[in-house]
Order: sequence, then structure tokens, then C-alpha cells
Amino acid sequence: MIRYGIVGCGHIAKKHVAAIEAVEGAKLVAVCDTNAERLAEFAKDGIEGYTDFADLLQTDIDVVCICTPSGLHPKLTIQAAEAKKHVIVEKPMALTLEDADRMIEACERNGVKMAVVHPNRFRPAIMELRRQLNQGAFGKIGHANATVRWNRNQAYYDQAPWRGTREMDGGVLMNQAIHNMDLLLWMMGDVEEVFSYQATRLRKIEAEDTSVSVIKFKSGALGVLEAAVTIYPKNLEESLSIFGEKGTAIVGGPTANWIKHWKFENINDEEAEAVIRRIENDPFGVPGHQCIIQDLTDAIKEDRTPVVSGKEGRKALSLVVACQQSAETGKAVRMDDLERKK
Ligand SMILES: NC(=O)c1ccc[n+]([C@@H]2O[C@H](COP(=O)([O-])OP(=O)(O)OC[C@H]3O[C@@H](n4cnc5c(N)ncnc54)[C@H](O)[C@@H]3O)[C@@H](O)[C@H]2O)c1
Repeated sequence: MIRYGIVGCGHIAKKHVAAIEAVEGAKLVAVCDTNAERLAEFAKDGIEGYTDFADLLQTDIDVVCICTPSGLHPKLTIQAAEAKKHVIVEKPMALTLEDADRMIEACERNGVKMAVVHPNRFRPAIMELRRQLNQGAFGKIGHANATVRWNRNQAYYDQAPWRGTREMDGGVLMNQAIHNMDLLLWMMGDVEEVFSYQATRLRKIEAEDTSVSVIKFKSGALGVLEAAVTIYPKNLEESLSIFGEKGTAIVGGPTANWIKHWKFENINDEEAEAVIRRIENDPFGVPGHQCIIQDLTDAIKEDRTPVVSGKEGRKALSLVVACQQSAETGKAVRMDDLERKK
């Protein structure tokens, strides 16, 4: 049995609780929150509660799920690694590349595993898209497009002081579109150069609420990312599109769970329709958080690297950082230069 603890008993922690319960061989034994009221909601039915993270680390848990405000992820991850606990860290894993590197180094040095929560990779439509890519069904790819046209209203940002701040949260890229960056990179490979504009248009927050970026991948393919949390009056669209010489695919809907277009040279209309219907009948599949917990539980037992490891999680973070730097300087940023300057 792999014994889990959670630090940060807020909104997303509920998904971790449900996921741990659903995974055979995983058990939630302890939780931690500095807010005693929040803690009391989770510390029941035999689950121990702690207000001090150091006390949680004294217990015999094997893994800590880090579900606190994002700016605290690096410090808590490193503390957990030093206590020889494996880590599942919510996205974004960190807000700077320096912090991400310190986290990866601490986990490696202490011989513990780190998984970053990018659950969208496990959506049925996304897995189908990846399967076609791996089989070469697109041929040479011309370009790809990701959109996040969502709504996070002012009340969302006002519910906790850390939301929308640069130091603890980040804006639409760091908080929401990092998932779509992760998917773009997973599908399209490494980026050579990016140019980005960012703006705070409609929300009273420190970080950006609107962002447009153009990307040149190392393969030569191009990419566009449009992300905003200002869409009136509610979430409208999250999509990922790939356009190749032998295939066109669009995964869309309000949360990129449905196949909107599926046309390939080597797939006839009947087969394409069957895929679209299959996804329609089960658009959410196994919950993404459950897939992450299952994967880390298995990775510990099999002593292998988790699917979305710290190094994998860092890739999407580095693209966000490059976009931020481009918006600040008004210049395109080459990923190689970003790494060299560090
Ligand atoms: N993967 C996803 O799809 C997804 C979705 C939503 C949020 N998130 C991420 O999850 C994280 C938390 O978001 P949330 O919406 O649950 O936030 P939240 O504000 O609802 O919860 C955070 C909790 O952390 C507690 N906390 C703060 N400092 C602490 C400390 N030092 N020690 C212990 N507890 C502490 C707070 O009291 C609060 O209960 C963020 O990093 C966010 O980006 C991920």
C-alpha cells in the first residue's frame, strides 16, 4: 500500500482525495492545512490532520500531494524531498525555471519521484490524437493551434488573496493555459522560438488575463496560442487543432473533450465517425487526477519515472516563461537563449 498525504486542503485537493480513493494500492492517511477550518473538512474518518507541514512529513506517508497556492510549490516540494517523500505537485510546478530546477535536483538527490499534474493528457480525445500522431497519420505537420477562451470572473480572483498575483499564481498562461502548452509540446515537440503579447484587459489583477503567442517549433511547424479568462459570459472553448499534409484534427468544446473534426487520408469516413461517437459516449474517461495518482503509485512499485515527471512539467513552464519574457521585451525569445541565460 502506498500511503498518501495532502498539503493544501482547498478546491483541487478534493480531486486528489477522490483520485486516491479510486486507486487500488493507494491510501490517504494524512492531510495538512494552515487553516484549521479547511483542515477539519479533510481530517476525518481516520485521516490525521496537521497545521504544520513539518509534522505531516514526520508521519510514515510515502507521497505528498502539493495542492497549495502555486508560489509555495517549490519550497514545499524541496522540503518533502529532503524528508524522502515522493511528490505529486499541482501545476504550475513552479513560477520560475530556477525554482523548477531546484525541485528536480532535490528530488533526484534524495532518490524520490516527482509527478506534475497535467491531467489533460489523459482525456480520451487527446489520447486518440496522440495515437494518430505516433502512427504518423498527419504526415508532415504544417501548423497547430491551441485556444483557451474561458471565463474566470472577478469573484474568482477575489476569493483568495493569492489569485491573480505574479508571485503566487501567475496569469492566464501560468495558471490555465499551461495545460495547453503542455499538450502542444507533447504533440508538436520542442519549440525553437516564441513571440507573445500579454495584457490585463478586463480583470483587476496583477498578472495577465489575455495572451496571444506565435510559436516556431524545432520541426519547422508553426503554432498559435490564444488564451483568455475574460470571455463573456462563461467558458466558451478550449481546443487543440493539428493540420498536417494527410490529416486534420480538431479537439474542442468548452473543455477540449470532444472531437470536432477528424479527417485523415488513411481513415475512411465510417472509421472516423466511429472514433467520434466513441469519444462522445465517454468524453471524460478515467479522471485525469486518478490517472496521475495511478501512474505515480505504479511508478513507485516499478521503480520507474512517472509519465509527467518534473522534467516533463518543466517544458511547459519554460514556454510560459519564454512568452512572459517576450511580452516584457517586445522581442521574440529563442528557447536556447532562455536556457543559456539562466
Ligand atoms: N490541475 C488542475 O486542473 C488544477 C485545477 C485547479 C487548481 N490547480 C492548482 O492547485 C493549486 C491550489 O489551487 P486551489 O484552487 O485548490 O487553491 P485553494 O486556495 O482553494 O486552496 C489552497 C489551500 O492551501 C492552503 N495553504 C496555503 N498555504 C499553506 C501552507 N503553507 N501549508 C499548508 N496549507 C496551505 C490554504 O489554506 C488553502 O486551503 C494551485 O497551484 C492551482 O494552480 C490545479
